Amino acid sequence: MPDVVVVTGDLTQRATAPQFDAAWRFLGSLPAGQLLVQPGNHDIPLWAWWERLRRPYGRFQRHFGTDRCPVVDRAWVRVVAADSVAPRRHAGGHLSPREVARVAAALDEAQPGPLRIVALHHPLDGPSAELFGAQAACRRWAAAGARIVLSGHAHRASARWLTGGTHHAGLWAVTGGTAISRRTRGDEPPSVNLIGPLPDGDAWLQRWAFDAAGDAFTLRASTRLPCRGHDRRGGGCLSEAADTTTARQPMPAGGPAA
Ligand SMILES: [Fe+2]
Repeated sequence: MPDVVVVTGDLTQRATAPQFDAAWRFLGSLPAGQLLVQPGNHDIPLWAWWERLRRPYGRFQRHFGTDRCPVVDRAWVRVVAADSVAPRRHAGGHLSPREVARVAAALDEAQPGPLRIVALHHPLDGPSAELFGAQAACRRWAAAGARIVLSGHAHRASARWLTGGTHHAGLWAVTGGTAISRRTRGDEPPSVNLIGPLPDGDAWLQRWAFDAAGDAFTLRASTRLPCRGHDRRGGGCLSEAADTTTARQPMPAGGPAA
């Protein structure tokens, strides 16, 4: 059973009660030591603007509770959720200085040893118009020990090291693909990422994608994520699994890890 299942939104298409019901039933059925669920921009009302401005998370909270930014601790990892949803914007996100500082404090408070991961809806390395405050967050969170930042929103799975240039940070930006929806991008199938620790302090990352012919999720790509200091040697973007035997290995019972 995975230690933590992280769901970075969107859970729904239009934040309706039936869609939240379906999401709640599905996520509740997953075997997981702990479940960390965040809303995305689709999980607040779009057309009911008065509700969007006054109680944007009301519908989400009726199913998933009032804590939109939980912190999850397991033996090898601390996952800190950040809220990037901006009710006054249509699809783009916003990380306020206050939110960046809150997450940094939660990272600073972690015990020495566990890998520190931040999870939010909007990717840090997307177009700058998509997420206000991304550069400041990169700098502050990397300084506070974050090594991996998980996100959704883009519908494309990727893993990139962010450093220098406009980011001045050293952390991995890992974006999940669309997990179970048909709303994918191009010919990329639905996929989930699995992350786990390595004995030397680095992490491993796998991408499991849906194989329609076999009606199962199979391993498609894997890589090491160097997480010690700011050294990224030996890592890189997800490489396609070269061994077809491995590449078609079905997902183990228990589903995704972190
Ligand atoms: Fe989104």
